[in-house]
Amino acid sequence: MRVLLVAGARPNFMKIAPILRALGEAGDEARLVHTGQHYDAAMSDAFFRDLGLPAPDFHLGVGSGSHAAQTARVMEAFEPVLLEARPHWVVVVGDVNSTLACALVAAKLKAETGARVAHVEAGLRSRDWRMPEEVNRVLTDRLSDLLLTPSHDARPNLLAEGIEPERIVFVGNVMIDTLLHQLPAARDARVPEGMGLERGGYALATLHRPSNVDDAGALAAVLGALGRVAREIPVVLPLHPRARQSVSAHGLGGLLEGLRVVEPVGYTAMLGLTDGASVVLTDSGGLQEETTALGVPCVTLREQTERPVTVTEGTNRLAPWPLTAEGVFASYREAAAEPRRAPGQSQPYGWDGQAARRVVAALSAG
Ligand code: UD1
Repeated sequence: MRVLLVAGARPNFMKIAPILRALGEAGDEARLVHTGQHYDAAMSDAFFRDLGLPAPDFHLGVGSGSHAAQTARVMEAFEPVLLEARPHWVVVVGDVNSTLACALVAAKLKAETGARVAHVEAGLRSRDWRMPEEVNRVLTDRLSDLLLTPSHDARPNLLAEGIEPERIVFVGNVMIDTLLHQLPAARDARVPEGMGLERGGYALATLHRPSNVDDAGALAAVLGALGRVAREIPVVLPLHPRARQSVSAHGLGGLLEGLRVVEPVGYTAMLGLTDGASVVLTDSGGLQEETTALGVPCVTLREQTERPVTVTEGTNRLAPWPLTAEGVFASYREAAAEPRRAPGQSQPYGWDGQAARRVVAALSAG
């Protein structure tokens, strides 16, 4: 079986790593495409290094741009790659612009190349069409031949949209494969201790959603809440480039005082920091899952989540919406009062480290 695996942005890299490994173990031929949506050393190279990913077979180098420009550039650059590689499967993961762009190219070339599209992390829905990721998720699922779901809430979402049941296969969460694989190394690295932090004695925050960082009011509310948390315990904030740009554009630099602001960190360091935190406050999708897997209480800075099992079965809660400094701080207090669960204590079904093997089995059977 020949597989062309697509990754473009930071949250994709941890999803493709176990799939590449499982394809290799099964003796399948896998080639890796990096679209270049994320390109900084901190947003891309550090992840390739930490996850032991091979250099991509194809690097499209598309870089940043408006949604239209970025998506179009990926499509233009991916078309000749697909025509050259002639895989049996194009595997796309997650919900970033690169995911949709490559699925769309492959779907349109299907008659010519015979290559089918498989979407890993299919069926998640926030039902918020203002989120670019929701547009990417729904359209990618519609275009895909095989929909590989991470949790049990995904299948009913897909059936409700008229997707044929035969196209949907439950595989579980590939991100958790990577987490379990990397956790010993992350713990050995003693990242919190290296930063002078006490395990279980600090909060970790991340912020990058357009709805939070592009709007000055929302950004000020969240940073204000983090400032209040920081009066109780240290708050580590690895700052995404998008958030950094917005803080300076809106003149909110003063609100960062008192926080431990650092550059975005690689996978292993981030896992170590998450594992050692008493509470995580985030608008990331992946961290909602990682905190549930680790048993660390999480406050999600969003109106809704496309990952509801992290709330119903895991350690996640949504801060009251619209976000205010008081509301976020109250959620932090609630989360901080919750005892940490043992890792694996509240694992959603299929978050067991074997999801990538089931992805490969589904591709082989498909
Ligand atoms: C993208 C994904 C989002 C994901 C996030 C993780 C889409 C629609 N969004 O959002 O789902 O959660 O990645 O980070 O695909 N930049 C750099 N260096 C980089 C990459 C970006 O400086 O390596 C800056 C650029 O100025 C860019 C901005 O960050 O304009 C935003 O990057 P972009 O890839 O457009 O979207 P993200 O906000 O990162």
